[in-house]
Amino acid sequence: MSIKISPSILGANFCNLEQDIKVLEKNSVPVLHLDVMDGHFVPNITFGPDQIKMLRSVTSAMEFDAHLMVTDADALLSRLAEAKVDSVTVHAEACVHLYRTLDTIKKLGMKTGVALNPATPADTIKHVASMLDRVLIMTVEPGFGGQKFIPLMLDKISGLSRWKQEQGLTFDIQVDGGINLANIAEVVRQGASDIVIGSSIFSGGSIEKNVQAFYAALK
Ligand code: DX5
Ligand code: ZN
Repeated sequence: MSIKISPSILGANFCNLEQDIKVLEKNSVPVLHLDVMDGHFVPNITFGPDQIKMLRSVTSAMEFDAHLMVTDADALLSRLAEAKVDSVTVHAEACVHLYRTLDTIKKLGMKTGVALNPATPADTIKHVASMLDRVLIMTVEPGFGGQKFIPLMLDKISGLSRWKQEQGLTFDIQVDGGINLANIAEVVRQGASDIVIGSSIFSGGSIEKNVQAFYAALK
């Protein structure tokens, strides 16, 4: 199984975004994780479709993976498609009509993901699992970068991974929050295949060296 590293620009210095994205591209990082926060579903506010569109002008090759931590995901979907976002992950806790939201994402030509807060059971996605390209297991409470990984989530990852295999399903298991060089191998061992990393790539030292260190840790 190939393991993907998804840098979260939430951890980046927004004054240097263009240069930083070029560094990621040069190091063959195929994807950018874009944390959209509305100050309502989570206490923090970040950016939305207009700013993502601006980032699109910096890179046409990278996959744009939008993680929506917002109360009203439906209101953003068509504008995210216009901004050439490739995949959209919505929170199960925020989407009352989750089936309809996922169906809309698919109809707009984007990949689908559902994110689960730490206390939300993995089987919440059971009845829509065949519609999903990704399940995101939050390994911190969403809202801020730089938080500490919650070890209780290791069982959740392995349980979901087992169930996925039993069912013959193909979605990726993504993890997000508090991932560092000391715990990445463990989340992969439990079944995660797409690893979101914010502060451990962007806050401290050279981005290039940090990315290379994560690739080395996965060998
Ligand atoms: C948190 C965001 C994450 C965050 C991860 O709510 O969803 O993507 O940027 O940052 P670190 O890796 O610093 O926990
Ligand atoms: Zn995220």
